[in-house]
Amino acid sequence: MAEFAKGLEGVIAAESRICKIDGEQGRLYYMGYSITDLVEHCTFEEVTYLLLYGELPTREQLAVFSAKMRNARELKQPVINMIKDFPKKAHPMELLQSVISYLSSYVEHKIHHGPHCNCRDTLHQLAEMATVVATYQRVQEGKEYLPPRKDLSHGANFLYMLRGEEPDPVEGEIMDKALILHAEHSFNASTFTARVVASTMSTCYCSISAAVGALFGSLHGGANEKVMDMVDEIGTPQAARDWVNKALDEKKKVMGMGHRVYRAKDPRAIVIEGYLEELSEMKNDRNACEILKEVESAFRERMEEKGKPIYPNVDFFSGAVYRMLGIPTRLFTPVFAIARAPGWLSHILEQRVDNRIYRPKAAYVGSDHRPLVPIEER
Ligand SMILES: CC(C)(COP(=O)(O)OP(=O)(O)OC[C@H]1O[C@@H](n2cnc3c(N)ncnc32)[C@H](O)[C@@H]1OP(=O)(O)O)[C@@H](O)C(=O)NCCC(=O)NCCS
Repeated sequence: MAEFAKGLEGVIAAESRICKIDGEQGRLYYMGYSITDLVEHCTFEEVTYLLLYGELPTREQLAVFSAKMRNARELKQPVINMIKDFPKKAHPMELLQSVISYLSSYVEHKIHHGPHCNCRDTLHQLAEMATVVATYQRVQEGKEYLPPRKDLSHGANFLYMLRGEEPDPVEGEIMDKALILHAEHSFNASTFTARVVASTMSTCYCSISAAVGALFGSLHGGANEKVMDMVDEIGTPQAARDWVNKALDEKKKVMGMGHRVYRAKDPRAIVIEGYLEELSEMKNDRNACEILKEVESAFRERMEEKGKPIYPNVDFFSGAVYRMLGIPTRLFTPVFAIARAPGWLSHILEQRVDNRIYRPKAAYVGSDHRPLVPIEER
């Protein structure tokens, strides 16, 4: 008899070469490369190539791949119409999920068992996600579709489409690097969802659309939105310490603190905190940054008193960075999806190499055989 593990916690469901998380040391690796090295030396497109092909590209390979990704950024008119016609109150994640399924109808599906499936060629779902999210926001603001630019990085182009003007190069680079930080994180709920759907030999579009649905849930994406609610509620750095003490006295969770896997500071949090510092200096607005530093220090002091060292995760700083880049809070989870798409595709490809359909069992705890009473007699 297999053991029952609620939420599949601790169950090893596959072998994977994509992502290694060293929770004790606070290290994260994509295909063996440390996240710190990747953000320092690579663009999001380069990391996407790494996740899809398993190796970093040469300059020539990257040029071909970048051109392919950039050519896939544009939206076709029916997709623009769909964004315009979508209920205005719908969450952008609902729109994103629907658009990805819709895009699926534009491609010829050739599903193979081997590594050479069409996922690496049909980069539309990956490249267009940024355009869909930016266009959603423009429509909300009563603006027209702005065609993407091919001369900008994935991150800079997203900010360009969102704002209608080219971002400062530093902002463009920080956006691109923030996407790298979120590109992959092993077997979380959305990635597992993508693999489960892929294991039925469904299309990469259907697999990614399902993953977007999983990421929409508040237990997965969304902690950075709540961190910004906290920052707004606290208001000033001077008020932070009392706020944390009161929250912990009331046994509330402080958002952006702690992690299921990391027992040290999340390496992504260290990098993104640096970006927050840089942007705060650049924009001469240190309020959110100082509030977060005070919250971290007060929280860690309280937890250390109890012998529980708990550190910030990536969500603790990412919301403040996004806000400084002019991204509305409602788009934080869609931005996560834009960033995670290469990770999902990487897992879909890996799943297909040595596929076995996921089919766990349930421990039946329902009634024994019950006599059926016909409807007239119930
Ligand atoms: C991510 C999370 C669910 C991990 O929880 P976990 O696995 O139980 O974490 P730990 O085992 O390290 O927790 C140890 C203790 O610290 C407490 N703790 C952990 N994170 C905390 C937080 N953010 N605020 C207050 N207390 C916290 C736990 O409640 C637990 O207390 P207990 O021993 O009295 O039960 C939790 O840290 C959390 O809810 N964080 C805030 C939400 C968030 O930022 N999520 C995004 C994650 S990427």
